[in-house]
Amino acid sequence: MRALIALMFILASGAVLAQQAEIPPEKEVILYQSKKLGTVTFLHKHHSTLSKVECRTCHHTLNSGEEPKPCHECHFKGAKDVPEPKKAFHLRCTECHEYTTEKGLKAGPIKKKCKLCHVKPKKGKEQVAGR
Ligand code: HEC
Ligand code: HEC
Ligand code: HEC
Ligand code: HEC
Repeated sequence: MRALIALMFILASGAVLAQQAEIPPEKEVILYQSKKLGTVTFLHKHHSTLSKVECRTCHHTLNSGEEPKPCHECHFKGAKDVPEPKKAFHLRCTECHEYTTEKGLKAGPIKKKCKLCHVKPKKGKEQVAGR
């Protein structure tokens, strides 16, 4: 629920940007936030220049001319015939990081490096949704 609220907040603030199907390079998308697990942020700029990575690698339902839809619009707990978000993100995000790590290329966090994705705030600092 908390994650959903955070997401809706992000979507509201990102609505203008999303109107042009342009990659928001500097923008951090908060994918998940909880006190216990910390925050997962996603940055297109660390992903947009990869070779072989197209928008559809992640925005897999995108048809040409369309705007990318938030993953959570379809992937939410209890959705019918759609993998729940934890499963979908862990699969899509870590399969590629594992692949690039294996190849000795630049890579993001592999599955067991939970804390590199789920980042907890530093002591004394409040965590805020959207920066
Ligand atoms: C490595 C995965 C990945 C790739 C590749 C990718 N995106 Fe995204 N994109 C995401 C994720 C994750 C989100 C956040 C979705 C959500 O909020 O549920 C997102 C969100 C967006 C948004 C909404 C951003 C906002 O804050 O309003 C736009 C627009 C977008 N992507 C455009 C693109 C375009 C255009 C490309 C190709 C040039 C692209 N993306 C490639 C993962 C990716
Ligand atoms: C318009 C609805 C919709 C959106 C938006 C959407 N998905 Fe999905 N996704 C589905 C459906 C339906 C399935 C199950 C059928 C299938 O595999 O295509 C699925 C399946 C998946 C799977 C499992 C595929 C496999 O190989 O087993 C992953 C991973 C996934 N989505 C990740 C994402 C991510 C990440 C985003 C956002 C960047 C996203 N999805 C956006 C509808 C959506
Ligand atoms: C198609 C491959 C691919 C997919 C899919 C992918 N990544 Fe990455 N990711 C990379 C690569 C390669 C890097 C290293 C980029 C660099 O160091 O310049 C990276 C770096 C990262 C980093 C570390 C840099 C940073 O931004 O702080 C994080 C965190 C990350 N990815 C999160 C995610 C999340 C979350 C998803 C799923 C929504 C995802 N990645 C999907 C390839 C991918
Ligand atoms: C590549 C980044 C990444 C790595 C590595 C990662 N996660 Fe996640 N995880 C995510 C994202 C993104 C979500 C958001 C799913 C959602 O939107 O509900 C998530 C969701 C979760 C959830 C679901 C919480 C809920 O409310 O359903 C749990 C639990 C979790 N992760 C635990 C872990 C653990 C434990 C590890 C290490 C073994 C780990 N994650 C590694 C990105 C990552």
